[in-house]
Amino acid sequence: MARQRTATIGPRLVLSMVVSLLAAALPTAVAQNLASDRAALLALRDALDPGRRLPWDPAAPTPCNNWRGVTCDASGNRVVELRLPAKSLRGTIPSGTVGNLTALQKLSLRFNAVSGAIPADVGNLAELRGLFLRGNLLDGEIPEGLFSLARLRRLDLAGNRLAGGVSLGFNRLTRLDTLLLEGNQLQGEIPEGFNVSGLAQNGFNVSFNAGLDGAVPASLAGMPATAFLGTGLCGGPLAACAAPDGEKKKKRLSRWAIVGIIVGAVLLILLVMAILALIRWRRRRAPPTSSSAAAADVHSGTAPITVTVARTHRDASVSHSHSFSGASPPAAKIAGEGGEKQQQQLVFLGGAPDRPYDLDTLLRASAEVLSKGAHGTTYRATLDGGAPVLAVKRLRDVRVPEQEFRERAAEVGAMRHDNLPRLRAYFYGREEKLLVYDFVGNGASLSALLHGLFVSFVPRNGAPLDFTSRACIALAAARGVAYIHRVGSTHGNIKSSNIVVTAGRDGAFVTGHGVAKLVGAASSSRRGTGYRAPELSSAGASVPLRKSADVYSFGVVVLELLSGRAPGPDGGGGVDLPRWVRSVVQEEWTAEVFDAAIAGEARVEDEMMRMLRLGVECTEQRPDRRPAMDDVEARVERVVEDAARKAEFSSTDGSRSVSA
Ligand SMILES: *[C@@H]1O[C@H](CO)[C@@H](O)[C@H](O)[C@H]1NC(C)=O
Ligand SMILES: *[C@@H]1O[C@H](CO)[C@@H](O)[C@H](O)[C@H]1NC(C)=O
Ligand SMILES: *[C@@H]1O[C@H](CO)[C@@H](O)[C@H](O)[C@H]1NC(C)=O
Repeated sequence: MARQRTATIGPRLVLSMVVSLLAAALPTAVAQNLASDRAALLALRDALDPGRRLPWDPAAPTPCNNWRGVTCDASGNRVVELRLPAKSLRGTIPSGTVGNLTALQKLSLRFNAVSGAIPADVGNLAELRGLFLRGNLLDGEIPEGLFSLARLRRLDLAGNRLAGGVSLGFNRLTRLDTLLLEGNQLQGEIPEGFNVSGLAQNGFNVSFNAGLDGAVPASLAGMPATAFLGTGLCGGPLAACAAPDGEKKKKRLSRWAIVGIIVGAVLLILLVMAILALIRWRRRRAPPTSSSAAAADVHSGTAPITVTVARTHRDASVSHSHSFSGASPPAAKIAGEGGEKQQQQLVFLGGAPDRPYDLDTLLRASAEVLSKGAHGTTYRATLDGGAPVLAVKRLRDVRVPEQEFRERAAEVGAMRHDNLPRLRAYFYGREEKLLVYDFVGNGASLSALLHGLFVSFVPRNGAPLDFTSRACIALAAARGVAYIHRVGSTHGNIKSSNIVVTAGRDGAFVTGHGVAKLVGAASSSRRGTGYRAPELSSAGASVPLRKSADVYSFGVVVLELLSGRAPGPDGGGGVDLPRWVRSVVQEEWTAEVFDAAIAGEARVEDEMMRMLRLGVECTEQRPDRRPAMDDVEARVERVVEDAARKAEFSSTDGSRSVSA
C-alpha cells in the first residue's frame, strides 16, 4: 500500500514541481536576460577598460538608463545597441561578453585599440544588423560564426590586422549591403563564386590588402577600381589578368631578365669594389672625418642599395662598408675602434629578440633611407632572411655622456604603448650611436601624406584624407604623447614627419621618442622650428625639455592636419601656422583655414571647429595657458567620437529602423 501511495504521489509531485518551475521561470526569463546583458557588459569593461574610464555604475538598477554607449529596447528589457567608438579601449574581447548580448542589433567599437581575434561567439548575435570594428588591432581570421548573422547589413572591419582569405561564407549574408575590409592583411584569391548580391555600389572595399591576388570575381566586376587599390588583383575594373599563353612569353622574357640581372649585379659588384678601393686610397691620404661626410652626401637621395656582400675577414675596415646603405663610413669607423671590441655590442632593452641579431648583422642588413632629420638619419633595415624589419636611427652630435645615455636609453626602452614603436636596442660606440626601433606603419609619415613628399610610399590614387581620418590620426598621436608625459618624460621633437600613419590611414605612431633626450636638448634648436614653442627659440639651448613645449608642437600638428599647410617660417615655404590661424577672423575659418579636401564636410563642421580651437589653445604663446596632454587627448577623443557617430548615422541611413 505504501508503495502504491508513493507511486501515485510521485508523478503529481513532479508535475507540481514542473508547473511551479515554469511559473517561476517565465516571468524571470526577461529579467534574467537583462541581468546577463549587464554581466556581459561589466565583463567586457573589465577586459577592455581596466582603468574603468567608462562611467558605468554597477549599482544602477539597469544598464539601460545611464550607461554611456548602451541602448536598450523600448521596454528596457534587453540591450540592443552598444556604441563605444574611440574610447581608448584596449585588450582582447573574451568570449562570453559581447557574444552574450544576444539581442544586440548594433555594435560599434570603432577606433579603439582592441586586439586579438574577433570572438567566435559573435555568431550568437542573431539580431545584429551593424558591426563596426574599424580602426582597431584585431588579428586572426574572420570567424566562421559571423557568416551566420543572417540579418547583418553593415560590416566594417577596415583598418585592422585581419588575416586569412576572403571567405565564400559572405555569400550567406544575403542582406549585407556594406562590406568594408580595406587596410588589413587578407591574402589569397577572392573565390570565383563570391557573390554577395545586395552590396551597394560603394559598399565594398578590399583596398590595401597587399596579399590579395588573382582575378576579381564576376559579381564584383561592377565595383569601382578604387575598391581594390593596393592589392594584387586583376580583371574586372582593373587591368586584365595575364592570359595563360602570355605567361610563356613572360617566362622566356624573364629568363633574359635574369641574365640581365646577373650581368647587372656583376657590374655593380665591380663598381662597388672600385669605389671601395677608391675610398681606401683616399682614406690613406685624407683625414677620415672628411671622407665620411663626403660619402654620406653621395648616398643622400639615391635609391636604396640592397646589395649584401659577405664579409671576408673580420677586421678589414672595408668589409662592412657597402652593406648598410649609406652607413659605410661609420661602419668602417666602428671597425676602426679595434681596441673597444668588448663594448661594441648592441644592448637589447627588454630582453634579446626571438631571432637574435648582433651589430654585424645589423650593419649588413639591407637598408634604405627613410628620413634625415636634425638628430640623424633613419634607415629601414631588413635583416637577412626577411624579419624582423627595424628602423635604425644613426644619431648625430650626441652630447650626452655615456653613462647618462645608457640610463636614458633604458628608460625609453621601458616605454610600452600602442602608438609608440618600441625601442628594442641601442649601440653606443665612441664614434657611432645607433637606436634600433620596431619598424611601424608602411613608411608613410603624416607629412608625406599631407604634403605629398615621398609620394612613392603613398598610393597616388588614394583618396584624400577626410576629416575623421585626420582626427583619428591626431587621436593616436595624442595618446602616444600623453603616455610619454604620464610616465614623466617628454618627446621634444613632435612634428608631422615624426608621425607615421598606418596602412588603414586612421591610426598612427609617434616616432622619434627619446631621441631628443638621448642627443641632448641643445641640438634640436636648428630644425623643425615651425613646431618649436616660442619660449625655446628665445631662450636658446639651455632650456630643459618641457611638456608644455610638446603641447605646442602637437598643436601645430593639429593646425597642419586641418589646414593642409606645412608650418615653418624658415625658408621651407611654410607659414607660422599658429600666427596665421589667429590672423584669420573666426567667421572666416571655414573658408580660409581648412584644407580644401575637408572644407566641404559640412556634416562634421562642428567637430572641425572644436579641433581647430584645440589647436589654437595648444599653441598659446604662454606655456601656462596651454592644456595638459591628458586633457588634449580627452578632447580629441570626444571629437573623433562625435565625428564617427555622425559618419555611422549617415552610413546606416538604410537601416534607421534599427535604432528607431
Ligand atoms: C555568458 O553566457 C554563458 C552561458 O550562458 C555563461 O556561462 C557566462 O557566464 C556568461 N558570461 C558572463 C560574463 O556573464
Ligand atoms: C549572384 O547571385 C544572384 C542571386 O543570388 C544572381 O542573380 C546573380 O546572377 C549572381 N551573380 C553572379 C555573377 O554569379
Ligand atoms: C577604399 O578604401 C580606400 C582606402 O581607404 C580608399 O582610398 C578608396 O577610395 C575606397 N574605395 C571605395 C570605393 O570606397
